[in-house]
Amino acid sequence: MTKISSREIRLASRPKGIPTEANFTLARTELEALQDQQVLVRNLYMSVDPYMRGRMNEGKSYVAPFELGKTLEGGAVGEVVESRAREFKPGDAVTSNYGWREYFIAAPQDLRLVSREVQPLSVYLGALGMTGMTAWVGLNLVEVKTGDVIYISGAAGAVGSVAGQLAKLRGCRVIGSAGSGEKVQFLREECGFDIAFDYKIGPVIEQLNVEAPDGIDVYFDNVGGETFEAALSALRVHGRIIACGGISGYNEEKPRPGPSNLFNMITKRLTMKGLMVRDWLDRQGEFEKEVGGYYRAGKLKNRETVVKGIDMAVNAFIGLFRGQNIGKMVVELA
Ligand SMILES: NC(=O)c1ccc[n+]([C@@H]2O[C@H](COP(=O)([O-])OP(=O)(O)OC[C@H]3O[C@@H](n4cnc5c(N)ncnc54)[C@H](OP(=O)(O)O)[C@@H]3O)[C@@H](O)[C@H]2O)c1
Repeated sequence: MTKISSREIRLASRPKGIPTEANFTLARTELEALQDQQVLVRNLYMSVDPYMRGRMNEGKSYVAPFELGKTLEGGAVGEVVESRAREFKPGDAVTSNYGWREYFIAAPQDLRLVSREVQPLSVYLGALGMTGMTAWVGLNLVEVKTGDVIYISGAAGAVGSVAGQLAKLRGCRVIGSAGSGEKVQFLREECGFDIAFDYKIGPVIEQLNVEAPDGIDVYFDNVGGETFEAALSALRVHGRIIACGGISGYNEEKPRPGPSNLFNMITKRLTMKGLMVRDWLDRQGEFEKEVGGYYRAGKLKNRETVVKGIDMAVNAFIGLFRGQNIGKMVVELA
């Protein structure tokens, strides 16, 4: 094997508030020669995700913090360049958690073979990957069914746009909010949402009262904060909440106090369930069959915002907190 030089992104310092480029360094490293039971992979696409912000903080959480000076990690799709493990051969497409770098060497058990027939391969980071699965899990978590009125925040993002389309396929009335007119148009025209509104042009509760005067049955929470508060007011008796994310608070140095109207949980007998997609890995086959089937049949769109080059990966990540993506934010590396 000729020596491979690979660029990678390392955490230089822990961000305070919204991350800046100064929190990261782009480094170059030489890969070691391949040993038995190792596979060399060239990444084609890597994912940037809001949850990575939490891993940049110090302290205990549901997943260990990124270490200072070390290469970041995250979802990626790549192709096998060389293999000394019988499970993989050159040209195989694989997913891994070795994002934020151009090349890497891994053990076969850290790689997952995916079909090259599904294109673009970046779909394995979006609709057919972690974010698509999160959308699917959310709907299953609170048994979303035909006739439900569901409101999804962060609707034009990776999770939200798939959740809305899957809810439509289940026969729901789907309402979404997102942060620009272009996103609202995308939700209505490409994703088939019944109603979409821009949360930046007026208070969410006022817009929900207009768009869903009889209330909502389900709230799919991707953002938390004031939007969560508005949804608590709009939910009907026995309403259900999918607690998926709270991006509005990810850059806060201190957590903000909870919703002022939490008492709705009692008076309306609401149910709120926390979602952790990795708890559902044993259902991945079922997810791939159902959602992959929709995708292959052209019933599900996987909109992406593609940023090119590892040197742009940090910008792509920061862009998530500025709403710069429609659909899944991915970085094309090759
Ligand atoms: N629980 C789990 O297992 C799990 C798994 C995956 C993701 N998640 C969570 O699901 C949520 C969506 O993730 P994603 O990957 O689909 O990201 P995404 O929605 O594709 O990207 C982030 C979007 O969040 C919105 N946003 C940014 N700052 C905001 C703020 N202060 N207030 C309101 N909206 C803001 C932006 O859209 P606008 O222009 O519309 O503001 C931005 O495009 C995140 O909270 C994430 O942490 C949870």
